[in-house]
Amino acid sequence: MNPADITAQSNTPNILIFDSGIGGLTIAAEITKILPQHPIIYIADNRLYPYGTKPDAVLRTRARSLFPILEAHYHPSIIVIACNSASTLILDEVRALTDTPVIGVVPAIKPAAEFSKTGSIGLLATKVTINRPYTQNLINQFAGDHNVVSVGSDILVFQAEQKMHGNPIDTDAIRQELLPFINQPNIDTIVLGCTHFPLLRDEISHILGQSVELIDSINAIARRTAVTLSKLTPDLPSTLPTPKHRFIFTAPNPKIDEITPTLHRRGFSDILIGNH
Ligand code: DGL
Repeated sequence: MNPADITAQSNTPNILIFDSGIGGLTIAAEITKILPQHPIIYIADNRLYPYGTKPDAVLRTRARSLFPILEAHYHPSIIVIACNSASTLILDEVRALTDTPVIGVVPAIKPAAEFSKTGSIGLLATKVTINRPYTQNLINQFAGDHNVVSVGSDILVFQAEQKMHGNPIDTDAIRQELLPFINQPNIDTIVLGCTHFPLLRDEISHILGQSVELIDSINAIARRTAVTLSKLTPDLPSTLPTPKHRFIFTAPNPKIDEITPTLHRRGFSDILIGNH
């Protein structure tokens, strides 16, 4: 069956969650907790994964061609770009392409700066997110008077994917990536500025110790999604059928069998290849 056909079976406003891979799963989980009646269409752009190593021009071109296709196929009521590497670059551009509300995920610098007692915070994100003017502006605006240690890691993205695929993860490699934080014991708060990283929260916390607070944007994004959706559909009946959640890869995925059990466990009944 074509993924678009089954999506059209539901009349309840649906939420399209987008990431390069499985990073948006934590956001999807929080959204379904707050909005249990809304179908999720999760798009994993495995055709271009990982985003964190791609030049800006490549990601821009991809966004310009892909988002209109996704809209035409899935008719989302709202789009959540659950990817910092994409949002810090193409959020405004995607918004300009569509009338559908678009919510983006960007590093939670402000809450981290407010939370820190020592005035020393860490930012853990992909290399492209670290280098974006958007991110630098957030730091200047909200943490200008803080010591900010930024670490760009694409290895952690891979390790998070490994974990969700049920494969062993390399804790030494994770520790190695976190060394700049370990070497600055003054850091009491770290921003998880990539949606893949909360999937490694336990491992990161184990290495850095419980005294370091790990801050992400998951809850804020889920709440913003709920508020935006309630404005769009104020008259929705309170009892609606249990929705079907679909997980769609943009390209054929040779590892689909490895990831399927995780996706089923997380409530996705249909796992499909969209060929987008
Ligand atoms: N999950 C993504 C992010 O928040 C991208 C990871 C990647 O594909 O490199 O940045």
